[in-house]
Amino acid sequence: MAPNVTGSSAPILTSNTKGQMSNNNWTAIGTVVGNASTSEFTFILKSFKSRVGDLVAVQMEVPDEARSGTQEIYVWGRVVSINRYNPFFPYEAAQELSNEGLSLEDTILSNSRDQLEAVVLILGCSPVDGGLTNLFPLTYPVRPAAEVLYPPAAAIKELLAGGIPGHTPLHIGTLIARGDVDIAISADRVVARHIAILAMTGGGKTVAARRILRELIDRGYPLLILDPHGDYLGLWQKREVFKGTTVRLLYPHIAMTDQNRHIVEILINKMTEGLSEPQRELLGESLTEVDPVEGESVLRYIKRLRDSLARKAGQANDKRKVPTLSVCRRQLGVVETRLERMELTNERMRQRLKNLQFEQMSDPEGRPEGIVAPKTVSILYLGGYDHLTQTTIASILLEALYEHRANLSNRIPPFLAVIEEAHTFIPSSREGTADVPSLETIRKLITEGRKFGTGLMLISQRPSRVDETILSQCNSFLILRLVNPRDQNFVKQIMENLSEQDARMLPGFGPGQGIISGQAVRFPLLVRIKMDEDLIYTDLGDENFLEQAAKWKPDEHAPVREQAERSIRTLDKLPDRRPKKEPCPAMKRPVPETPSSVAERWEKVRKKFLHDTRALGDLEAATGLQWDLYRRKEHVSKYAKLSWEELKDAVRHNAKREALLGLLEAALALGHE
Ligand SMILES: Nc1ncnc2c1ncn2[C@@H]1O[C@H](COP(=O)(O)OP(=O)(O)OP(=O)(O)O)[C@@H](O)[C@H]1O
Ligand SMILES: [Mg+2]
Repeated sequence: MAPNVTGSSAPILTSNTKGQMSNNNWTAIGTVVGNASTSEFTFILKSFKSRVGDLVAVQMEVPDEARSGTQEIYVWGRVVSINRYNPFFPYEAAQELSNEGLSLEDTILSNSRDQLEAVVLILGCSPVDGGLTNLFPLTYPVRPAAEVLYPPAAAIKELLAGGIPGHTPLHIGTLIARGDVDIAISADRVVARHIAILAMTGGGKTVAARRILRELIDRGYPLLILDPHGDYLGLWQKREVFKGTTVRLLYPHIAMTDQNRHIVEILINKMTEGLSEPQRELLGESLTEVDPVEGESVLRYIKRLRDSLARKAGQANDKRKVPTLSVCRRQLGVVETRLERMELTNERMRQRLKNLQFEQMSDPEGRPEGIVAPKTVSILYLGGYDHLTQTTIASILLEALYEHRANLSNRIPPFLAVIEEAHTFIPSSREGTADVPSLETIRKLITEGRKFGTGLMLISQRPSRVDETILSQCNSFLILRLVNPRDQNFVKQIMENLSEQDARMLPGFGPGQGIISGQAVRFPLLVRIKMDEDLIYTDLGDENFLEQAAKWKPDEHAPVREQAERSIRTLDKLPDRRPKKEPCPAMKRPVPETPSSVAERWEKVRKKFLHDTRALGDLEAATGLQWDLYRRKEHVSKYAKLSWEELKDAVRHNAKREALLGLLEAALALGHE
């Protein structure tokens, strides 16, 4: 049965999709002109009959395979650009009008003879009597003067049916130019062959990722989301939408194991000025001597390691080793303080999200099923951690999960890992941070993932800062608005099939509009991503900074911070060590008497301080002072263990004792009483 072609006396199309198409019209919308090739043609378009992004068709005759006769085919293409011009309105006329201040109506010039010239990128062709499920490359150019047709939605739907035949479709949105035509991508390709979502900030990456993830959740596919900014926490709030699926909010916990002791070295190298060769050797020795206890956090392990180094220094026969040991100890102290501070910040950020329930991430090696499980979405909230620590956590986590899959341990099913801010986790070597721990792990996942079912969704607003070789191994790309020319060029380089015309569209896209291309679709398409209104959550959304600025008052701790800063400045000015030689008793200057109230104050705060080890970490975070650089924290903790009488003996300087007292009081005033 033939579909109707309106506005045309041209060829009648026949199709095997008879039932579907019989009631739909194929509208003639233009005529092919100029030089046509097998990859592109141009046509003169009737006004308003088509838009950029539309799929159009031409019916034509080509030589058949045996080359003995001919065969009727449809040539399918996508409108990639439209130029508008009026040959009856030359430049000179425009100049004349503007010079003379005349309006067009006062002249005999025509403004109704516009011509629209549309460029079409050919997607492939299908035999007229063979259905639309298989597209073949066009091997013979389109005929000039051929009629260009606007297919009905049913025909386009059949062309795009389910993305790729035989694959599970994930519905992501519609064609930009036609809201009546859904676009689906192949779930199989997304989970095994990786997808990248790239756009400038505000381009709609998170909305698009949520759309794809929701489709995967509906199919029960296990997901792990690494979420540095909390963009996905709302999925937990909306969990009733995902019937039968468990949504878990996790916070990081780096557990030490026999195999990952080297992370201590990585952390030292990254967080401090590093270690010399002899220092590294000594640390390596200690790392093998101190065995991690099962489930022990890296922080606890570092504390034990420091104790062991202190013991070693005390017992060392060779006293020349003592300075090396103490440098190692000090550097570990720096790492410890920073980790502690980040844990605290993460905890604070979680506390601000009052309605959300977080649980500690389980050990990915020992209990991977606590992270990846069927019908489970695990969201790891990395807020508060610096980039290096985020990448260390990602590396340990993904490495362990990958090993479980690769060893066929059968502990966890295949899963998709979503990596937001991919430029942090897999930075390009040009960024000068190429040896971040997660780089190699993610490289492994992306090359081997296909075999073991460890798929990746990489999301970034700065594509040019992402490692090129890893990103180019994503087989599918969703590119939304991109304005930065460096990012545009980068995307052109890594996506072989991005046409020049498509690349030119990137800066003009609105939120949620973009190009989907690669193995997850049959051919590149301009897409408008569907926004899931029911997943929008308000209390975590964009913060209203104007309102916040208007209401802002300095926090109640400002005076406490000032007091702490004063105390620290005093401590800085005073010598750190006690005089080497005690003066003879006769020469000893009497310790000036301090009022008994000071002694009482000291006893009061130090007792509380002894029971609240976090107080100093808190104060450090609140003051923004890096005590670790001066080893202040260690000293202050040590002094806080002393009674006033002992302190008087240990610290002979009155001002120093008072500064210490001021500091402890400030630490406890920060809400830890
Ligand atoms: N498909 C869409 N349809 C309609 N509006 C959209 C769509 N996608 C995004 N938007 C709008 O754009 C805003 C920003 O989207 P989104 O948060 O996904 O951007 P992003 O690329 O993730 O930004 P960032 O880099 O800052 O994380 C959304 O709040 C929404 O208003
Ligand atoms: Mg986002």
